[in-house]
Amino acid sequence: MSTGTEITDQPFAGLLDVPPAADGKPGVITDEANYGRADGEIAFTAPHLAVIGKTGSGKSRTVLAPNCVRWGPRALVVMSSKGDLSELTIRRRAQLGTQYVMDLSGEIRDSQIKGVDLTPVRIDPCSWIETDDEAMEMASLLMQIGDVGAGGDGQGSGDSAFWKSLARRRLACLLRAGGFYRDPDTQQMTWGGGIVWALEAAENVGPDAAEGGGRGLTQEGLDDEVDEDEDDPPLDMATPNWKTAYMRAHSVGSRHADSLLAARAMDERQRDSIGINMQVAMGAWAMESTAAPGAKVFNPSMLASGGTLHIVAGMDGAAPTVVCTVLIEIVKYWRKRVGKLDPVMMVLDEFVNGAQIPARYTNRWISEGRGLGIRLCLGLQSTKSLTRLWGQAAADEFRAIMPAALILPGAGETQMLKDAAETTPPEERVVTSLDAGGRTSHSRQLVQPTHAELLPPPRSRTDPRISYGRLLLGGMAGVRVRLVDITGTDLA
Ligand SMILES: Nc1ncnc2c1ncn2[C@@H]1O[C@H](COP(=O)(O)OP(=O)(O)OP(=O)(O)O)[C@@H](O)[C@H]1O
Ligand SMILES: [Mg+2]
Repeated sequence: MSTGTEITDQPFAGLLDVPPAADGKPGVITDEANYGRADGEIAFTAPHLAVIGKTGSGKSRTVLAPNCVRWGPRALVVMSSKGDLSELTIRRRAQLGTQYVMDLSGEIRDSQIKGVDLTPVRIDPCSWIETDDEAMEMASLLMQIGDVGAGGDGQGSGDSAFWKSLARRRLACLLRAGGFYRDPDTQQMTWGGGIVWALEAAENVGPDAAEGGGRGLTQEGLDDEVDEDEDDPPLDMATPNWKTAYMRAHSVGSRHADSLLAARAMDERQRDSIGINMQVAMGAWAMESTAAPGAKVFNPSMLASGGTLHIVAGMDGAAPTVVCTVLIEIVKYWRKRVGKLDPVMMVLDEFVNGAQIPARYTNRWISEGRGLGIRLCLGLQSTKSLTRLWGQAAADEFRAIMPAALILPGAGETQMLKDAAETTPPEERVVTSLDAGGRTSHSRQLVQPTHAELLPPPRSRTDPRISYGRLLLGGMAGVRVRLVDITGTDLA
């Protein structure tokens, strides 16, 4: 079964399903974007698409996987928790560019990817940081993400917010220390070991912390005298602790260095609180699957001229933090190069469990995404899980601003369908009526769609390979679409 091959600039959401009018003539599409198009053509969507349906309803196999293949040689990020999306698409994607794989589940079996050339990658935020401001931004993000899953938007509350704010700048310093620093002996820029080093350093304040010193360090900072005595061993720039981190950050002129030095001089309870907050923020990198020492460090520039980043998020643990940081970094990279790069598509299946991106990012990407050069295609079981993740207001906003939403049978998105029915202007329809003599007559009338009419019908009885969905567009009734399993198309 062919589903058309043209590459569009938008996510794919199935084929137009236009039932004949009451008088037997071909049905008419009233949706603005799809106006004048015929049954069986690809439905026009919008820059971003949410696909909403319960488990087993076909989100991955009929919509998200076809999206990955249709995107062609342009850059693609594809995330799923089980790896099923990558399994369905990686062979076809491999014909179009490099396949980077970040396996946070540790579960990818060789059989799933046999015969495909893969580049395993890992994420190291330290490798993206070049300035103090970038370090601060990353520190804030890392501290926020843990909170998001708990129903807040990462601002924290009360006591915990206080300790987080104390820890934030110190974390920024550690992140800089994990990156490149200037070696005092050779004056060479030297790689600091990345976030894995920073995490280790967070756990240890270093020697003589209470006095603020230790060799090479005084309460006021670096001891200038120290290098003049030739008998002294060289400064220790390697051992992961706060002291080394201070010296490394200082060597690249970081303004955050002094704040870590000041924290070293605090009393033990305060130091512990700061240390624990920093460790929690970087905790994801304590896991083997995240640290992935053998893998190449991913940088968004690897996707600049195409290729695919596969993220297998796994069901628990470290994934949300890691996924969040890389997606935000990719958007940042594209934002800085607006108009110079082809758009990047992010197909994020099981969005709520896998990514846990704070609402203020997601909703901003949705509202300005076409301009940023990114396209989002999000799979979720129900927008109610967004309420759990973000709280009511942000979830409502998501529903209101999502320009295209594909609702599968049984999704239970009553509010979205009701709102769409009410927002859609009345349309002219052919209405059949019986006159007194029992003869049928047809007339044209203005009719407002109802919520019930927008519900997608169940799977086709005559052809079980075909299922249906309601594609809401611009918050209005949109169109009905037909969906086919990817293995029944020329995309498999
Ligand atoms: N080769 C195949 N051809 C057609 N249908 C298939 C095939 N393999 C599985 N299915 C059907 O596809 C459906 C599962 O689709 P899919 O995995 O896309 O659902 P989903 O909405 O993504 O579910 P989940 O939320 O659990 O990931 C099931 O109904 C299953 O019976
Ligand atoms: Mg799925």
